[in-house]
This record gives sequence, structure tokens and C-alpha cells, in this order.
Amino acid sequence: MKIAVRYFSRGGNTKKLADAIADAVGVTAETTDVPLTEDVDILFLGSSVYAFGVDDHVKDFIEGIDVTIGKVVGFSTAALVNSTYQQVDKLLEAKGIPHAKEEFYCKGSFGIMHKGRPNAEDLAHAATFAKEVAEF
Ligand SMILES: Cc1cc2nc3c(=O)[nH]c(=O)nc-3n(C[C@H](O)[C@H](O)[C@H](O)COP(=O)(O)O)c2cc1C
Repeated sequence: MKIAVRYFSRGGNTKKLADAIADAVGVTAETTDVPLTEDVDILFLGSSVYAFGVDDHVKDFIEGIDVTIGKVVGFSTAALVNSTYQQVDKLLEAKGIPHAKEEFYCKGSFGIMHKGRPNAEDLAHAATFAKEVAEF
């Protein structure tokens, strides 16, 4: 099974999840600045929320996808909202790319909120999630 991990992270919170997920499934996490160059069965795609929206890097990455993807599995951190699922879903739908119902989300530190998140427990949960999705 071919698996890729891409993420965008301004402050490093979502990068922590990306690295935990990638490590769990035996690949290297790359930022959304690195386009996919071959078809994949699963793309784990990490994003976050900044002033109620996902970053343009994520939008541009999805718009630029020109390979075949079996399914995108989202993961995200945010301080207030519960995941970026709906926003990413709209972008994927516009491209006709399947978006898995399952996702991984946890709180991400923001100022005095959620200090230390994602923490070790979050990262362990993210790794377990990734292995289950990839059927490892
Ligand atoms: C400029 C800025 C705006 C943010 N706006 C929101 C927001 O609208 N809703 C929310 O839930 N979290 C918001 N957050 C919190 C981030 O989503 C949270 O800190 C997240 O974990 C950041 O991920 P990153 O470290 O991977 O960039 C904001 C953070 C920043 C820095």
C-alpha cells in the first residue's frame, strides 16, 4: 500500500501529529510545499485553523493535486473548533478526491490555551489511528 503524509503547520503543533503519523506507517512527513509525484492509496493530510480558515498553502496543495488518491485521511489541531474536516472536505470535493469519514483531531496550544498540546498521549493516539487506517 502506498502512503503519503503532507501537512501545513505554522507553529509546529500539526507537524508533531504529522511526524507521529508518518513514523507509525513508515514514511516521512513532508509539508504541503512538496507536491505528490505518484499515485497513493492513502494521503494523510494535516491542517489547522487560523482565523476560522485553513491556510492557503493547504488550498493550493489540494488544487494542485494531479495524481490519483485512493482516499484522503485528514488530521488537524485547533484551539477552538473541532477539526478542519468540513473546510478540507469542500476543497477535496471540488477536485473529486475521496475524503475518508475517519479523521484525527486534537487540541493544539494557542497562547495560554491547551498548553503542551499535542502532548505525548495525543501523539500516541495519532499513531494508533494511523496504523488502524493503514491496517498495519
Ligand atoms: C493567527 C492564529 C489564528 C488562529 N485562529 C484560530 C481559530 O479561528 N479557531 C481555532 O480553533 N483555533 C485558532 N488558532 C489556534 C490554532 O489552530 C492552533 O494553535 C493550532 O494547533 C496551530 O497549529 P500549528 O501549530 O500546526 O500551526 C489560531 C492560531 C493562530 C496562530
